[in-house]
Amino acid sequence: MKNLVIANWKMNPVSKEKAKEIFKEIKNNVEDLASEVVVCPPFIYLSFLSSEKKGIILGAQDVFFEEKGSFTGEISPLEIKDLGVEYVIVGHSERRKLFNETDEQINKKIKKSLEVGLNVILCVGETEEEKNQGKTNEILEKQIKQGLSQINDFENINIAYEPVWAIGTGNNCSVDETKNSINFIRQFVKPETRILYGGSVKSENSADYIEKAGANGLLVGRASLDAEEFVKIVKSVE
Ligand code: PGA
Repeated sequence: MKNLVIANWKMNPVSKEKAKEIFKEIKNNVEDLASEVVVCPPFIYLSFLSSEKKGIILGAQDVFFEEKGSFTGEISPLEIKDLGVEYVIVGHSERRKLFNETDEQINKKIKKSLEVGLNVILCVGETEEEKNQGKTNEILEKQIKQGLSQINDFENINIAYEPVWAIGTGNNCSVDETKNSINFIRQFVKPETRILYGGSVKSENSADYIEKAGANGLLVGRASLDAEEFVKIVKSVE
């Protein structure tokens, strides 16, 4: 099983030129590595980056759950697939929190994405409050069971364990806690399903998640906008 390393650029960078520059530098340095590397830029950059993507995989940060129609402002899974995009992140905590995305909507997005042939990265994770109340496993179980409800074919499903309190805070999850959560998640997926870790990943902590916590990859936010640092992260898990 190849490690999967995802760059989630979120709503960055704010210029096309900068996006091209970061993308090129990442691409030139990871092309020959064994890991599967996926860059998820904002939707509007997917089109021109797709013409330069040889040797690297493109992903989207979200998607709508219908193929076409009157859904102003939404993006169809068929539209992104048509650009050569292979992966889609679904259920990121920022979408759950800021855009009130529910497990039911997430489930619809996953089903439609699989139907059109996209690979899915389903993000799950507890908030700080939930963690303090000892509810981590309960939350993970609910998000996974509802997110993957009525889905039997797991071939194109990947799970990213992203504790919400660790995202963008510099407060990355400990190896032991990550290991516990990954082991807990394993019981709801197939043995070959890749489970990634995300939340303040840097080149100093990245290898531990693979070697010690048993993750099959990483979801990297902030550090993925620094091409040199992101390449270091990818190399650290080779
Ligand atoms: P971070 O973001 O690496 O900046 O913490 C991770 C994520 O949101 O996926």
